[in-house]
Amino acid sequence: MLTIRSLTKRFPGTLALDDVRFDLRAGEVHALLGENGAGKSTLIKCLTGAYRPDGGEIRLDGAKIAPRSTSEAQELGIGTVYQEVNLLPNLTVAQNLCFGREPRRAGMIRTRAMTRAAQDMLDPYGLDIDVTRDLGHYSVAIRQIVAIARAVALSGKVLILDEPTASLDAREVKMLFDVVRGLKARGLGIVFVSHFLDQVFDLSDRVTVLRNGRHIVTEDIAALDRLSLIEHMLGHALETEVADHATSHDAVIARPEMLTFRGMGRAGVVGPFDLDVGQGEVVGLAGLLGSGRTESAEYLFGLRSGGTAEDIKGPIPIDTPRKAIAAGFGFAPEDRKTDGIVAELSVRENIALALQARRGWARPMPRAEQQRLARMYIERLDIRTSDAEKAVGDLSGGNQQKVVLARWLAMNPRFLILDEPTRGIDVGAHAEILRLIHELVGEGMSLLVISSELDELIAVADRVIVVRDRAHVAELTGAEIRADTIVRAIARHDEIGEVA
Ligand SMILES: Nc1ncnc2c1ncn2[C@@H]1O[C@H](COP(=O)(O)OP(=O)(O)OP(=O)(O)O)[C@@H](O)[C@H]1O
Ligand SMILES: [Mg+2]
Repeated sequence: MLTIRSLTKRFPGTLALDDVRFDLRAGEVHALLGENGAGKSTLIKCLTGAYRPDGGEIRLDGAKIAPRSTSEAQELGIGTVYQEVNLLPNLTVAQNLCFGREPRRAGMIRTRAMTRAAQDMLDPYGLDIDVTRDLGHYSVAIRQIVAIARAVALSGKVLILDEPTASLDAREVKMLFDVVRGLKARGLGIVFVSHFLDQVFDLSDRVTVLRNGRHIVTEDIAALDRLSLIEHMLGHALETEVADHATSHDAVIARPEMLTFRGMGRAGVVGPFDLDVGQGEVVGLAGLLGSGRTESAEYLFGLRSGGTAEDIKGPIPIDTPRKAIAAGFGFAPEDRKTDGIVAELSVRENIALALQARRGWARPMPRAEQQRLARMYIERLDIRTSDAEKAVGDLSGGNQQKVVLARWLAMNPRFLILDEPTRGIDVGAHAEILRLIHELVGEGMSLLVISSELDELIAVADRVIVVRDRAHVAELTGAEIRADTIVRAIARHDEIGEVA
């Protein structure tokens, strides 16, 4: 259905695509894999007209195409959902779904017809939401599904999903995969980009691996196992398995007490809950999306106010993020696009940003100092960038995530909250970040890690708190920290089968 030959795309200082080939059959899910910065999103953007390739050809149903814009690509039959949802949060769900194709009579938008059309579009997804409310009112997960519904409705042949599941929880992933299988049965060709290898094995028929902008391999998924796939991606075997660094859960380790939170939260949002965090302790927060995990973190960091905090010296004010930062807290949020990076600023400036804010803008940090910091974290986190002066918006998604992490690490906080720290990050860097977490807590930093990936929580946490229906419902320590116990606590008893 779709064939790509010798595709080349150059950016200043980077050859993002180097003589790449790719093809897609009708009725298949073809996974596109590779490390952060391998060129996946660039390939997709060439397909959808967001970028003009420097060379090569793209054929759809045998005919050469060169889309100049996303809307032209859509008309040709290629629809895309990017890893960063790019719908408009202050329009309603229906307006987002029908944007540009609103049902009209005598020039006027027919609101009721639009509402009905939007409901019909969402129907196959099992999403029962009020389409007349603003999209921004809904979770990232729902926004993602709305974006997919829009892309499917607009284009008939090829659907491209660039990390669609990065912010979905287990149930939502299952729902989405059912939808994708349905579309596949209808003969759509689907390109699937993901860093979750389990999902790749679950959903795909074939895989293509890119590395440093080059085509490495295309294979039936059945012919590959996990390790060989990782080897293709990295160019070598994954040297250190995460398990080697896993926290030992044999004994419950007593930690010097550091922070006490009391009465955090507010009825209707989450909690109220109490939390004690020891020095060098990693507290994991598990729960489904929307359970109150992120809200819990927002109270701890002063993004919402309610509750009190104390250390051994006495009460510490944390009712605003500024005060929380002054108290040595840090928070790397889940939605990096809106809360994380400043796309126009350089990697160096983004890393120095939080530190500069703490020093006060009256005392600018010397450039040499900023450069030293940037160089250190570019190396430590393996941030793939041509140099420290590149605008963060021009980095690949996973590398942007690493910059957010670097910014907070540079602050050397005593208590750091990481909301989905490895979302969108490739397997190699994932292991690297878990290793770094261990190093930091070894130096006495305390962490609160929110994650949908149970393996990750099990690997890093000394204690796992389970959040369900906006309350902290269970606390697991030592040998209790296992996938089955966490799943059981996340699910209500009668739901276990469904969630597991
Ligand atoms: N607009 C741009 N300007 C300059 N360089 C860019 C631009 N877009 C991408 N690049 C560079 O091209 C390379 C490939 O990036 P791309 O976004 O395609 O990676 P990716 O495989 O999607 O990675 P990830 O898994 O992190 O999303 C990177 O080195 C990136 O910095
Ligand atoms: Mg990408």
